Amino acid sequence: MSSSLGASPSTGLFMVAMLALLSLSSASYFEVGGKDGWTSSKNVNYTSWADGYHFQVGDVLRFVYDNKKENVLRLSQRHYSTCNLTDPVKKWTSGNDSVRLQRAGHFFFISSPDGQCQGKARVNVKVYPNDEAGGHSPSPAPTPVGSSSSAVPAPEPKPAAAVSVKASWVGCIIIMPLLLLIFPLN
Ligand SMILES: *[C@@H]1O[C@H](CO)[C@@H](O)[C@H](O)[C@H]1NC(C)=O
Ligand SMILES: *[C@@H]1O[C@H](CO)[C@@H](O)[C@H](O)[C@H]1NC(C)=O
Ligand SMILES: *[C@@H]1O[C@H](CO)[C@@H](O)[C@H](O)[C@H]1NC(C)=O
Repeated sequence: MSSSLGASPSTGLFMVAMLALLSLSSASYFEVGGKDGWTSSKNVNYTSWADGYHFQVGDVLRFVYDNKKENVLRLSQRHYSTCNLTDPVKKWTSGNDSVRLQRAGHFFFISSPDGQCQGKARVNVKVYPNDEAGGHSPSPAPTPVGSSSSAVPAPEPKPAAAVSVKASWVGCIIIMPLLLLIFPLN
């Protein structure tokens, strides 16, 4: 019977609609390293490769590699910069792995089946908020490289929806007594 209970169904519907819109917006696939793929043996500069693209939330990186020689480790920034491979955030070994970029910020990958970092394929990918998500971020703020990679954009519920729901409840509260005045219950 409370107004917050009354508001939740339409807020939920709104969120569902937003999610549907989000899933409609197209995700892009990026094959890491282009035609070189993901390899430590060709001295590919993956920083230059990544500089050529604008990665957005929802995009997918595809790592294609020889899984007898390479793998894919996703590391925290701290572990990436100190070459600590003991506790990767995630590890892939299939040779053809798709990694969806789920949030804005930096993602750090290295190939290292042998636990070494010297001369290994490595890349730091910067991911921007999705341009099509709702237009609340026309200029994506780049995350400073020095900070931890936690630039998670808060999904903002459109204020307009909440306001109109509130307005209708305010309307009821104001109009009900008026109606009772005009049409008193006998
Ligand atoms: C890779 O390319 C980036 C910029 O494209 C450059 O700053 C960097 O020095 C290069 N790294 C190597 C090892 O050549
Ligand atoms: C590597 O990271 C782990 C935690 O993930 C930590 O326990 C360990 O001490 C680190 N090793 C070095 C050499 O810093
Ligand atoms: C990798 O897998 C995708 C499907 O997930 C497929 O379309 C693609 O052709 C594969 N690439 C290679 C080189 O096997």
